Amino acid sequence: MKGIVFNVLESLIIEKFGDDVMEDIFDKAEFVSDTPPFIGPETYPDSDLIHAVTLLSEKTDISVSDLLFEFGKYMFPVLAETFPVFLEGFDSPLEFLKTVDGVIHIEVRKLYGDVNPPILRVEFVDENTAVLHYRSERKLCRLMEGLLEGLAAYFGRSITYHHLECMLDGADECILNIQFK
Ligand code: HEM
Repeated sequence: MKGIVFNVLESLIIEKFGDDVMEDIFDKAEFVSDTPPFIGPETYPDSDLIHAVTLLSEKTDISVSDLLFEFGKYMFPVLAETFPVFLEGFDSPLEFLKTVDGVIHIEVRKLYGDVNPPILRVEFVDENTAVLHYRSERKLCRLMEGLLEGLAAYFGRSITYHHLECMLDGADECILNIQFK
C-alpha cells in the first residue's frame, strides 16, 4: 500500500489517540519493510499496515475491524483535500462514487505507478441507491465502508448499507446495497 495511506493512519493515531500511542506502536512494531512504512512516499507491504492497526487494536481495545472502519472514515476527507480536482463539479456522492474505479483509481495509478487499488463497480438503482461490488485481494471491505461513510459526510449526507455478500466469508466479491439519504 502507498505511503500516503500509512501517513493518513499516522495522522489518525496521533489525532485520536495521541503521540504516546504512536510512539509505542513504533517501538513495538516489527515491520517487514526495510524503512519504516510511515516515513516515505514509497509502497510498503500491506502486512505492515495491518500490523500497525493490530498493535493499535491491542493498545486501545478497539477491534481491527472497527479501527479499519474509522480509518476509512478519516481517510476520505484527507484524500479529497489532497486531490481536490477529483471532487470538482460533483454534488451527488453516488455520481462521484461512480468515478472512483474508472477515473480516480486509474489516475492515481498513473501518478504513482505501483498502486494496486481495488475493483469497485457501481450499479445504479436510482439517484441515491446503488449496488456496489468490491473486489480486492486485501479484503479491506471495512475500510471501504468507512470510506463510504466519510464520502457521505463530505457531501453532507448520511448513508445506509447492507453488506449482502462478503469476501471475508468466502464470497468472490463483496456486494453491498447502498443508499444515500
Ligand atoms: C479522492 C478520492 C480517492 C482517491 C484519491 C483514492 C486513492 C486511493 C489510493 C492512492 C489508494 C492506495 C492504493 C494502493 O496503495 O495500492 C486507495 C485504496 C483504496 N481505495 Fe481509494 N481513493 C479515493 C476514493 C475512494 C472511495 C470513495 C472508495 C470507496 C468507497 C475507495 C476505496 C478504496 C479502498 C477500499 C482502498 C484500499 C485498497 C484495497 O481495498 O485493495 N477509494 N485509494
